[in-house]
Amino acid sequence: MAHNPLAPEWLSSPADANTLDAALWPSSAQRSDTGAITIGGVSAPDLAARFGTPLYVIDETDARTRATELRAAFDTEFARIGTTVKVYYAAKAFLSTEVARWMVDAGLNIDVCSGGELAVALAAGVAPARIGFHGNNKSRTEIDEATRVGVGTIIIDSPIEIVRVAEAATRNGVVQNVRLRVNSGVHAHTHEFLATSHEDQKFGVVFEDAPALVAAIRAEPSLNFLGLHCHIGSQIFGVDGFAESASRLLSLHAELLAGGPVPELNLGGGFGIAYTSADDPSPITDLAAGLADIVSAECARRGIPLPVIAIEPGRVIIGPAGVTLYEVGTIKPVRIGENTRLYVSIDGGMSDNARPALYGAEFSVRLADRVTDAAPALVRIAGKHCESGDIVVDADYLPSDVAPGDLVMVPATGAYCWSLASNYNYLGRPAVVAVVDGEARVIVRGETIDDLLARDAGVYFDKLSTASTSSTNGTGATRSTDEMKETTR
Ligand code: LLP
Repeated sequence: MAHNPLAPEWLSSPADANTLDAALWPSSAQRSDTGAITIGGVSAPDLAARFGTPLYVIDETDARTRATELRAAFDTEFARIGTTVKVYYAAKAFLSTEVARWMVDAGLNIDVCSGGELAVALAAGVAPARIGFHGNNKSRTEIDEATRVGVGTIIIDSPIEIVRVAEAATRNGVVQNVRLRVNSGVHAHTHEFLATSHEDQKFGVVFEDAPALVAAIRAEPSLNFLGLHCHIGSQIFGVDGFAESASRLLSLHAELLAGGPVPELNLGGGFGIAYTSADDPSPITDLAAGLADIVSAECARRGIPLPVIAIEPGRVIIGPAGVTLYEVGTIKPVRIGENTRLYVSIDGGMSDNARPALYGAEFSVRLADRVTDAAPALVRIAGKHCESGDIVVDADYLPSDVAPGDLVMVPATGAYCWSLASNYNYLGRPAVVAVVDGEARVIVRGETIDDLLARDAGVYFDKLSTASTSSTNGTGATRSTDEMKETTR
């Protein structure tokens, strides 16, 4: 079939618009006998009937397995070169108490970047010593709380924080382990990286200033310097940017050894995942091997001992494990010249997936309640918000008989979708359901209109009638409180 000029260059019409590309979907995703997509053995129509739509669905086994396999890959590769690695799960990608426990079960530590994320990790029962605390503007209260509960490491992000953390540690009678975040000058995005000598960004300290700042840290009796930290970006496909950054960091690391011990080096997170069939990220085993090789070679070249390595991946663990389930509401063919794009509007949008609007991110979509042999049609999945940039999937193909009432699923939404969700247009944030072995359970309940109105100080609660018992979700305007029970349980 000729390429539809309305589609991006990389997207061609598939022979079958029902197939699930294994690179994009949770490992348990498949079509049932009826043609519906099942995740963790639970079918899309069952999920929609029990919990409503939109709905975030996480394949628990897939998330746990990715965490375990990532850790095993890094353990193996860094053992090969003669050191060990600490893996922190970057909670900003997705955090709930359940997911924090899955990560700890897999042997991971937890990286948080606010008092709120810290509170969730602690509520999950994560041992404080396993927590790393980030942020370019941690409040004094957050720093005090972190040192009081005994978080394992605080990542110092600016000169002013040296004093703040030292004072808080003294107040709480602890010696606080700290890292210093530096700008390595390397930026990476997908498969390319850019290296600059001067950084114009808010995170970390200027590379050349690091030795003096480490001396200041070492001079504080309430601080224990663990090592340097850097994070070069997110959704990175290849190893080159990480290698360049590790090499730069190790030159600084070697210099710092003259003034005292530097037991660790944190290389941050950022490993990319596939959102569409055009994406081709490096396998995690290749990244682990590549990073181990560069660390080994750089340390040997400088004649310095191998540090313990720390990494902080988020997306690569939880991203592919999650999908979002929507119901189709309206369909509109839009003719542009000789070609047609089908606008398919769903009952969520930029409030549950801000990534396309924020970053121009691409996603893909499949019909989730059935298969059909109707010819593929170029579609754009639009949300229900009052904003033309409210697009969830810019371009993909669905069977051309897609109709109102159909269910669609968008894969690879486990990271930075729920955590970036908003209440724009007073849509409630959807529930998060974990599926495993044919069972589904709510791990974060969805918001109702009551939740949203509860924060409005001017509400006449006695005047509320039907509105207060309805879901705020698209199709859910008529759903009653009873029907919402499963979601809110
Ligand atoms: N460590 C630090 C210091 C970070 O800033 C981040 C992500 C990570 C680790 C984890 O990166 P990951 O492995 O998940 O790529 N909202 C954006 C991504 C923001 C990433 C922020 N920092 C997106 O949706 O693409």
